Amino acid sequence: MYSLARKFFFTLSGEMAHQLALESLDAAWRLRLTRLMAAPPIHAPVEAMGLTFPNAVGLAAGLDKNADHLNSLGSLGFGFIEVGTVTPKPQPGNPKPRLFRIPEQEAIINRMGFNNKGMAHLIAQVKKRQYSGLIGINLGKNLTTPVEKAVDDYLLGLEAAFPHADYITVNISSPNTPGLRSLQYGEALKQLLQPLKHRQQQLADEQQRHVPLLVKVAPDMNRDELQSLADCLREVAVDGVIATNTTLDKSQVSEFKNGQEEGGLSGRPLTEKANQMTAQLTEALEGSLPIIGVGGIFSAADASERIKAGATLVQLYTGFIYKGPQLIHECAEAIAAIRPLAPKGNESRGN
Ligand SMILES: Cc1cc2nc3c(=O)[nH]c(=O)nc-3n(C[C@H](O)[C@H](O)[C@H](O)COP(=O)(O)O)c2cc1C
Repeated sequence: MYSLARKFFFTLSGEMAHQLALESLDAAWRLRLTRLMAAPPIHAPVEAMGLTFPNAVGLAAGLDKNADHLNSLGSLGFGFIEVGTVTPKPQPGNPKPRLFRIPEQEAIINRMGFNNKGMAHLIAQVKKRQYSGLIGINLGKNLTTPVEKAVDDYLLGLEAAFPHADYITVNISSPNTPGLRSLQYGEALKQLLQPLKHRQQQLADEQQRHVPLLVKVAPDMNRDELQSLADCLREVAVDGVIATNTTLDKSQVSEFKNGQEEGGLSGRPLTEKANQMTAQLTEALEGSLPIIGVGGIFSAADASERIKAGATLVQLYTGFIYKGPQLIHECAEAIAAIRPLAPKGNESRGN
């Protein structure tokens, strides 16, 4: 059934297809039909960062940027949903077109540029949701905020999101906000993360609730950069890392239609790179922080491989677009089968 729907949606432009598919999903949810579109949810709890994830497969950030579709997406069997990237103020993002499919390679290039309705809208949506699963809120900075002042936007985001999120992600790896990725390196990273960690602790004391803080990173790093990133994440003691965002390396798609569009590449061409990065990060972190593995997961085998490379949980985006809701079930089942009772990265810090 999904392959038929996909055929239709793929006749539309990338962004229109995306919007229409989500609206159709919402309509199906209102008619209580979404359960017919996906296999029953897998219950295979994973303990990580003091949270219990119903299963190991989440939705990656960027598909539900405004938390407008939590109920319908949540009914498909995801163990958790990451909404955003949200910025403090609403912003339009880059001019359209800005989302391009490369079907021959099961890939997408996007240069959305954090189009979103702002934090106030997202929080209102999160508050009125019926979805009862875990929610991550992914934070970014407004385009008009200079990179040197990025910490101000992330602090605003942290404070607004804290009471409503199960975990919070600091996204410094989108290639579509000029200068953002520079925050992943050296002193800039430490100067960003230390105040955020400090504020997280204060908020936890005030609200008597620990909300894990994760950092989402790019795959385009050499080994030295990755080691220094890992050292900093450990020193600041963030709660986890999400690897990876989209890549700027388009060598695998450059000869296909849309393959030279500006933006970040996701999907099948990212599988191997994201796998390697997960393995390298696991080594660099010496297993001290849980990793959420994302990038090019298209099958049960891909999901299992990511867990074997060291990830505790995985997220889907482009694979979900190409393969449909069935992929959630397949991946969750495969992970449960290889890790029946032994979740990793699960030092409980209490909630
Ligand atoms: C159209 C599109 C929009 C995205 N928007 C965001 C975003 O707002 N924030 C973010 O952290 N990642 C965003 N991502 C990156 C995904 O969350 C994911 O990290 C990346 O696509 C790799 O996974 P995949 O190969 O399964 O798609 C976006 C990806 C796509 C394709």
